[in-house]
Amino acid sequence: MAKVRSLYCCQACGAQTQKWSGRCSDCGEWNTLQAEVVERRSTGMALMLDGSTPIPLDQVDVQREPRFATGVEELDRVLGGGVVPGSLVLLGGPPGIGKSTLLLQICQHLRRTHPPLLYVSGEESARQIRLRADRLGVGGEGVLLLSETRLEAVEAQIQAVKPGLVIVDSIQTLFKSDLSPAPGSVTQVRECAASLMRLAKRDGVPVFLVGHVTKDGQLAGPRVLEHLVDTVLYFEGEGSHNVRALRSVKNRFGASHEVGIFEMGPQGLQAIQEASGFFLKQRQKGAAGSVIFPSMEGSRPVLVELQALVNPSQVAEKGVPPVRRAVGLDANRLSLLLAVMSRRLSGLGTGKTDVYANCAGGLRLNEPALDLPLILAIASSRRDHALHPALAACGEVGLSGEVRSVQQLEPRLKELARMGFEKVLVPDQGGLPKGLAGLEIVPVKSLAQALRVCGIRQREESPQPSAEEVHEL
Ligand code: TYD
Ligand code: MG
Repeated sequence: MAKVRSLYCCQACGAQTQKWSGRCSDCGEWNTLQAEVVERRSTGMALMLDGSTPIPLDQVDVQREPRFATGVEELDRVLGGGVVPGSLVLLGGPPGIGKSTLLLQICQHLRRTHPPLLYVSGEESARQIRLRADRLGVGGEGVLLLSETRLEAVEAQIQAVKPGLVIVDSIQTLFKSDLSPAPGSVTQVRECAASLMRLAKRDGVPVFLVGHVTKDGQLAGPRVLEHLVDTVLYFEGEGSHNVRALRSVKNRFGASHEVGIFEMGPQGLQAIQEASGFFLKQRQKGAAGSVIFPSMEGSRPVLVELQALVNPSQVAEKGVPPVRRAVGLDANRLSLLLAVMSRRLSGLGTGKTDVYANCAGGLRLNEPALDLPLILAIASSRRDHALHPALAACGEVGLSGEVRSVQQLEPRLKELARMGFEKVLVPDQGGLPKGLAGLEIVPVKSLAQALRVCGIRQREESPQPSAEEVHEL
């Protein structure tokens, strides 16, 4: 018989303690510990792995796992080449981003290749799903809808129907009736997911779980869910833009950090194939404060425009700090780069000016290689000096103002050459090609040097010369 005990469970990170306290000692969140009655037994991880006798490493079957396509190529790519039978995939994202839409869209292809599909919805009525399917042009044959929130009933249906694929929208609405905590609580979410994992592994049926994300980007409920499932995909978008990025943050069956880019339109989600062209389409050439950055979205290079606007601050006089805003970029990184600029470059401090930085087009970027182009965009706006429209840059910037190497430089440069760019500033790292189909590659060691190449002046007298400048004197 399972033992029953009372535990306090952090609703933010899933940590469990015997004693209540106001603050979770694991993640530091306040007021997240809630009492939950938990049965003491294995959570399913132990049952997932097949066989309990050890086998020699070299006798492990290394045949590539069979996969099948969903019909949405971008999703297949992010999954590492399609769906693996028996895998549990978590699709996380904020409400309204398009999770249900994407999963309904894959039904159009899979209902023919892997019927029947079982779409379990605890959020929307069968009627709502039917209306959306009609709008998306997804036919009904081969798709079974189940409006259900009891896990036991869902599992019984999976066994009865023997579906080719199960979609659970969402994991936070499911509950196990022998557990007392409410649906969406850490215990329920974890136990339901573990149960579905066992079932997926036993019957070889792939299961997609929709998981809601709170406003600070965490999966509502437990992070333990991320540990449990085989693949974690996040769907994200910036503000009111229609661009959506689907990122794999964990993948037991393929590379993580792969990215698919979609546009949400009247026909649902459409893949953006020619991403560089898409993001540069509305660019206004010759504007100050704009620099092109060859970003890597997973394994694919995408050219994006980084924009900056530096404006005299209205409030700085009154002792209120000036405004810093980052859209599609990390605000902390922006602050750090502004600090490096004011310390390492003379006359380019922004202490009394507001700074707005933007990744145009609705993509969200988070790689250090964007430091150099972002600083150039800020300096360009600060000096009101437009850079050459066929110039691009990439490079991480260190605290001393040095330009540091970046990964995957070659695909970035090839993409710039393909899109007709003429000059690119890169870190002075080893193995640089001399030039590439009309693209001049300019290695730079420091911010000061990068500004000189771009023709942006620092102030003449430099109270704090950079190491580079001292070296040059
Ligand atoms: P949805 O898939 O319901 O989001 P989630 O399941 O992540 O909460 O997406 C809903 C949003 O997408 C809604 O605001 C309307 C919009 N949408 C379109 O713009 N076009 C479409 O074809 C569909 C189906 C939805
Ligand atoms: Mg939904």
